[in-house]
Amino acid sequence: MAGTIITVAQQKGGAGKTTLTAHLAVAFKDAGKSVALVDIDPQQSLSNWFRLRQELYDDAEDGMVLSRTEGWRSRSEVDKLARGFDIVLVDTPPHAETETRVAVRGARIAVVPCQPSPMDVWATYPVLELAQKENTPALLVLNRVPARANLTEQMLADIKRLGAGIARTRLGNRIVFASALAEGRGVAEAKPLSLATQEMKRLSKEILRKVG
Ligand SMILES: Nc1ncnc2c1ncn2[C@@H]1O[C@H](COP(=O)(O)OP(=O)(O)O)[C@@H](O)[C@H]1O
Ligand SMILES: [Mg+2]
Repeated sequence: MAGTIITVAQQKGGAGKTTLTAHLAVAFKDAGKSVALVDIDPQQSLSNWFRLRQELYDDAEDGMVLSRTEGWRSRSEVDKLARGFDIVLVDTPPHAETETRVAVRGARIAVVPCQPSPMDVWATYPVLELAQKENTPALLVLNRVPARANLTEQMLADIKRLGAGIARTRLGNRIVFASALAEGRGVAEAKPLSLATQEMKRLSKEILRKVG
Protein backbone atom coordinates (compact mmCIF):
# COMPACT_ATOMS: atom_id res chain seq x y z
CA MET A 1 0.00 0.00 0.00
CA ALA A 2 1.25 3.46 -0.85
CA GLY A 3 2.36 5.77 1.93
CA THR A 4 0.57 8.95 2.89
CA ILE A 5 1.85 12.18 1.35
CA ILE A 6 1.56 15.19 3.64
CA THR A 7 2.58 18.56 2.23
CA VAL A 8 3.29 21.48 4.55
CA ALA A 9 2.52 24.66 2.65
CA GLN A 10 1.97 28.35 3.25
CA GLN A 11 3.02 31.23 1.04
CA LYS A 12 4.01 33.40 3.95
CA GLY A 13 7.63 32.91 4.99
CA GLY A 14 8.25 32.45 8.69
CA ALA A 15 4.84 30.89 9.36
CA GLY A 16 6.42 27.72 10.72
CA LYS A 17 6.46 25.30 7.76
CA THR A 18 9.94 23.92 8.36
CA THR A 19 9.51 23.89 12.13
CA LEU A 20 6.28 21.95 11.82
CA THR A 21 7.71 19.54 9.24
CA ALA A 22 10.73 18.61 11.37
CA HIS A 23 8.82 18.13 14.64
CA LEU A 24 6.02 16.23 12.93
CA ALA A 25 8.59 13.93 11.32
CA VAL A 26 9.97 12.98 14.73
CA ALA A 27 6.47 12.60 16.20
CA PHE A 28 5.41 10.28 13.35
CA LYS A 29 8.61 8.27 13.76
CA ASP A 30 7.92 7.96 17.49
CA ALA A 31 4.44 6.70 16.60
CA GLY A 32 6.12 3.84 14.73
CA LYS A 33 5.87 5.19 11.19
CA SER A 34 8.67 5.16 8.65
CA VAL A 35 9.13 8.74 7.43
CA ALA A 36 10.64 10.21 4.25
CA LEU A 37 11.23 13.95 4.15
CA VAL A 38 11.30 15.95 0.95
CA ASP A 39 12.77 19.46 0.98
CA ILE A 40 11.78 21.45 -2.09
CA ASP A 41 12.76 24.81 -0.57
CA PRO A 42 16.01 26.18 -2.08
CA GLN A 43 16.77 27.65 1.36
CA GLN A 44 17.30 24.07 2.55
CA SER A 45 16.42 24.70 6.20
CA LEU A 46 14.95 21.24 6.61
CA SER A 47 17.98 19.68 4.89
CA ASN A 48 20.29 21.54 7.25
CA TRP A 49 18.36 20.26 10.26
CA PHE A 50 18.51 16.73 8.91
CA ARG A 51 22.25 16.96 8.17
CA LEU A 52 22.91 18.19 11.69
CA ARG A 53 20.86 15.33 13.04
CA GLN A 54 22.89 12.80 11.12
CA GLU A 55 26.18 14.38 12.17
CA LEU A 56 25.35 14.60 15.86
CA TYR A 57 23.43 11.44 16.69
CA ASP A 58 23.91 7.76 16.04
CA ASP A 59 20.20 7.19 16.42
CA ALA A 60 19.62 9.35 13.37
CA GLU A 61 19.77 6.06 11.50
CA ASP A 62 16.20 5.61 12.61
CA GLY A 63 14.63 4.88 9.28
CA MET A 64 14.10 8.53 8.42
CA VAL A 65 15.46 9.71 5.09
CA LEU A 66 15.59 13.09 3.37
CA SER A 67 15.50 13.89 -0.29
CA ARG A 68 16.26 17.28 -1.78
CA THR A 69 14.55 18.01 -5.03
CA GLU A 70 13.19 20.95 -6.96
CA GLY A 71 10.88 21.66 -9.81
CA TRP A 72 8.95 19.10 -11.77
CA ARG A 73 11.15 16.23 -10.68
CA SER A 74 9.79 16.53 -7.14
CA ARG A 75 6.52 14.88 -8.18
CA SER A 76 8.12 11.60 -9.26
CA GLU A 77 10.50 11.66 -6.30
CA VAL A 78 7.58 12.00 -3.86
CA ASP A 79 5.66 9.20 -5.57
CA LYS A 80 8.71 6.96 -5.47
CA LEU A 81 9.20 7.58 -1.74
CA ALA A 82 5.52 6.94 -1.07
CA ARG A 83 6.04 3.39 -2.32
CA GLY A 84 8.67 2.73 0.37
CA PHE A 85 7.61 4.77 3.42
CA ASP A 86 4.51 5.08 5.58
CA ILE A 87 4.63 8.86 5.43
CA VAL A 88 6.20 11.32 3.00
CA LEU A 89 6.38 14.81 4.48
CA VAL A 90 7.07 17.63 2.04
CA ASP A 91 8.39 21.05 3.14
CA THR A 92 7.74 23.77 0.58
CA PRO A 93 9.20 27.22 -0.18
CA PRO A 94 7.32 30.49 0.25
CA HIS A 95 6.19 32.34 -2.89
CA ALA A 96 6.67 29.48 -5.32
CA GLU A 97 3.32 29.03 -6.90
CA THR A 98 4.29 26.22 -9.27
CA GLU A 99 6.43 24.24 -6.86
CA THR A 100 3.84 24.42 -4.13
CA ARG A 101 1.06 23.49 -6.53
CA VAL A 102 2.94 20.37 -7.62
CA ALA A 103 3.59 19.43 -4.00
CA VAL A 104 -0.01 19.98 -2.92
CA ARG A 105 -1.36 18.06 -5.91
CA GLY A 106 -1.46 14.41 -5.04
CA ALA A 107 -0.95 14.98 -1.32
CA ARG A 108 -3.45 13.34 1.00
CA ILE A 109 -3.57 16.53 3.04
CA ALA A 110 -2.01 20.00 3.01
CA VAL A 111 -0.99 21.14 6.47
CA VAL A 112 -0.94 24.94 6.63
CA PRO A 113 0.69 26.66 9.60
CA CYS A 114 -0.64 30.11 10.31
CA GLN A 115 -0.02 32.62 13.05
CA PRO A 116 -3.12 34.05 14.65
CA SER A 117 -3.14 37.57 13.27
CA PRO A 118 -5.42 39.00 10.58
CA MET A 119 -2.45 39.60 8.24
CA ASP A 120 -1.31 36.03 8.56
CA VAL A 121 -4.79 34.67 8.01
CA TRP A 122 -5.21 36.83 4.89
CA ALA A 123 -1.85 35.63 3.60
CA THR A 124 -3.14 32.08 3.94
CA TYR A 125 -5.99 32.45 1.46
CA PRO A 126 -3.91 31.76 -1.69
CA VAL A 127 -2.65 28.39 -0.44
CA LEU A 128 -6.12 27.37 0.76
CA GLU A 129 -7.54 28.28 -2.67
CA LEU A 130 -4.73 26.35 -4.32
CA ALA A 131 -5.50 23.27 -2.22
CA GLN A 132 -9.17 23.56 -3.06
CA LYS A 133 -8.40 23.72 -6.80
CA GLU A 134 -6.21 20.65 -6.49
CA ASN A 135 -8.87 18.78 -4.48
CA THR A 136 -6.48 18.35 -1.57
CA PRO A 137 -8.03 18.77 1.88
CA ALA A 138 -6.30 21.53 3.84
CA LEU A 139 -5.79 21.63 7.59
CA LEU A 140 -4.88 24.95 9.12
CA VAL A 141 -2.65 24.71 12.18
CA LEU A 142 -2.57 27.77 14.37
CA ASN A 143 1.06 28.31 15.34
CA ARG A 144 2.79 30.55 17.90
CA VAL A 145 -0.52 31.14 19.60
CA PRO A 146 -0.11 33.42 22.63
CA ALA A 147 -1.65 32.36 25.94
CA ARG A 148 -4.50 34.73 25.36
CA ALA A 149 -5.07 34.37 21.66
CA ASN A 150 -6.91 37.11 19.95
CA LEU A 151 -8.64 35.12 17.26
CA THR A 152 -11.86 36.66 16.18
CA GLU A 153 -14.81 34.53 15.21
CA GLN A 154 -14.72 36.39 11.93
CA MET A 155 -11.20 35.11 11.16
CA LEU A 156 -12.15 31.52 11.93
CA ALA A 157 -15.32 31.82 9.87
CA ASP A 158 -13.30 33.17 6.91
CA ILE A 159 -11.00 30.16 7.05
CA LYS A 160 -13.89 27.72 7.18
CA ARG A 161 -15.54 29.48 4.26
CA LEU A 162 -12.48 28.58 2.20
CA GLY A 163 -13.17 24.94 2.91
CA ALA A 164 -10.23 24.31 5.21
CA GLY A 165 -10.37 22.45 8.48
CA ILE A 166 -8.78 23.98 11.55
CA ALA A 167 -6.74 21.67 13.74
CA ARG A 168 -8.05 21.38 17.29
CA THR A 169 -4.46 21.33 18.48
CA ARG A 170 -2.85 24.75 18.58
CA LEU A 171 0.87 25.26 19.00
CA GLY A 172 2.13 27.80 21.50
CA ASN A 173 4.98 30.21 20.99
CA ARG A 174 7.65 28.05 22.64
CA ILE A 175 11.38 28.50 22.54
CA VAL A 176 12.02 24.75 22.41
CA PHE A 177 10.33 24.52 18.99
CA ALA A 178 13.22 26.65 17.72
CA SER A 179 16.07 25.51 19.97
CA ALA A 180 15.50 21.80 19.36
CA LEU A 181 15.92 22.35 15.62
CA ALA A 182 19.27 24.04 16.20
CA GLU A 183 20.38 20.78 17.82
CA GLY A 184 19.05 18.60 15.01
CA ARG A 185 16.29 17.30 17.23
CA GLY A 186 12.53 17.19 17.48
CA VAL A 187 10.90 18.52 20.64
CA ALA A 188 10.08 14.99 21.79
CA GLU A 189 13.80 14.23 21.78
CA ALA A 190 15.09 17.53 23.17
CA LYS A 191 12.47 18.12 25.90
CA PRO A 192 10.26 15.03 26.23
CA LEU A 193 8.26 16.45 29.13
CA SER A 194 7.60 19.90 27.68
CA LEU A 195 4.28 21.40 26.69
CA ALA A 196 5.69 21.66 23.17
CA THR A 197 6.13 17.88 23.07
CA GLN A 198 2.56 17.35 24.27
CA GLU A 199 1.25 19.71 21.62
CA MET A 200 3.23 18.09 18.82
CA LYS A 201 2.19 14.60 19.89
CA ARG A 202 -1.45 15.67 19.95
CA LEU A 203 -1.16 17.34 16.54
CA SER A 204 0.55 14.33 14.97
CA LYS A 205 -2.22 12.05 16.26
CA GLU A 206 -4.86 14.43 14.98
CA ILE A 207 -3.28 14.44 11.51
CA LEU A 208 -2.89 10.65 11.48
CA ARG A 209 -6.57 10.28 12.38
CA LYS A 210 -7.52 12.58 9.49
CA VAL A 211 -5.49 10.73 6.89
CA GLY A 212 -6.07 7.26 8.34
N1 LIG B 1 5.59 27.55 17.69
C1 LIG B 1 6.74 28.23 17.62
N2 LIG B 1 7.31 28.73 18.75
C2 LIG B 1 8.45 29.43 18.69
N3 LIG B 1 9.12 29.71 17.55
C3 LIG B 1 8.61 29.25 16.40
C4 LIG B 1 7.41 28.48 16.36
N4 LIG B 1 7.14 28.17 15.07
C5 LIG B 1 8.14 28.71 14.33
N5 LIG B 1 9.02 29.37 15.11
C6 LIG B 1 10.21 30.14 14.66
O1 LIG B 1 9.80 31.02 13.64
C7 LIG B 1 10.78 31.13 12.62
C8 LIG B 1 10.19 30.76 11.26
O2 LIG B 1 9.81 29.40 11.27
P1 LIG B 1 10.05 28.48 10.02
O3 LIG B 1 9.64 27.11 10.39
O4 LIG B 1 11.43 28.65 9.47
O5 LIG B 1 9.00 29.10 8.99
P2 LIG B 1 8.84 28.84 7.42
O6 LIG B 1 9.46 27.51 7.11
O7 LIG B 1 7.37 28.85 7.20
O8 LIG B 1 9.52 29.99 6.73
C9 LIG B 1 11.92 30.22 13.04
O9 LIG B 1 12.89 31.00 13.66
C10 LIG B 1 11.26 29.26 14.02
O10 LIG B 1 12.18 28.79 14.97
MG1 LIG C 1 10.95 26.95 5.72
